[in-house]
Amino acid sequence: MEQQSDKVLQMKKAAGKTAVDNLVKNGMKLGLGTGSTAIHAIRRVGELLAQGMLRDISAFATSFQAEIECEKTGIPYYPLSSRELSGCLDLTIDGADEVDPQNFLIKGGGGAMLIEKITAYNSGLYAIIVDESKIVGCTDGSSSLGTGFPVPVEVVPVARITVTKALIDLGATVTLREGIRKAGPVITEHGNLILDIRFTFPVDPAKMEHEINHIPGVVENGFFTRKHPVIYVAHSDGTIEIRQ
Ligand code: A5P
Repeated sequence: MEQQSDKVLQMKKAAGKTAVDNLVKNGMKLGLGTGSTAIHAIRRVGELLAQGMLRDISAFATSFQAEIECEKTGIPYYPLSSRELSGCLDLTIDGADEVDPQNFLIKGGGGAMLIEKITAYNSGLYAIIVDESKIVGCTDGSSSLGTGFPVPVEVVPVARITVTKALIDLGATVTLREGIRKAGPVITEHGNLILDIRFTFPVDPAKMEHEINHIPGVVENGFFTRKHPVIYVAHSDGTIEIRQ
């Protein structure tokens, strides 16, 4: 995980704690997100379970990172298709890379957007926790998603070149995500590659989410527009804004 300042760490912790304290109830089936913000929500759930303030939680972890944190904090977690969860979640709490004025999101900076999207779109309530730096948009109130933080596209390895060409035809610049302290590309938890794309012109995130997923070989992309989240935004002055 990247180095972050104390201030940013405090904002991430505060967003995670507030969302969990406000939304998580006894007996819930929870989707637990991935990343340096979502981890604070997982830790808060673990803390409340350990203190006996929360009972009968069953969770689904969206990545190895989230699973390991569940193990460390004693949160019972299960496969999404297990008898315990049967593909249904009451609430998912996750982070995001960018949030636009319509609460559309970019996710997948940590490469986990495939499972994060399955989880989000099959959850009763969807809560996003972010620090204020993740809130973006043009001055006229329109979306800037896709023009700043790169949108990840997970592709099956055999389709690396064909999908790259199709994305260039859509007007994107395309970069194969490379590993850090590992030579060659990042391999996702599902054995796929990630193409990070960016546009130099404004795009319609809802239309793009749909169009990119229609390219043969694309598994999923990081535009999240079809599930309306409640957003917990932590500000540097210590306040938490709740955007519906
Ligand atoms: C993981 O793949 C992502 O979708 C994360 O939820 C997103 O990148 C936000 O991560 P941070 O909270 O670490 O910024």
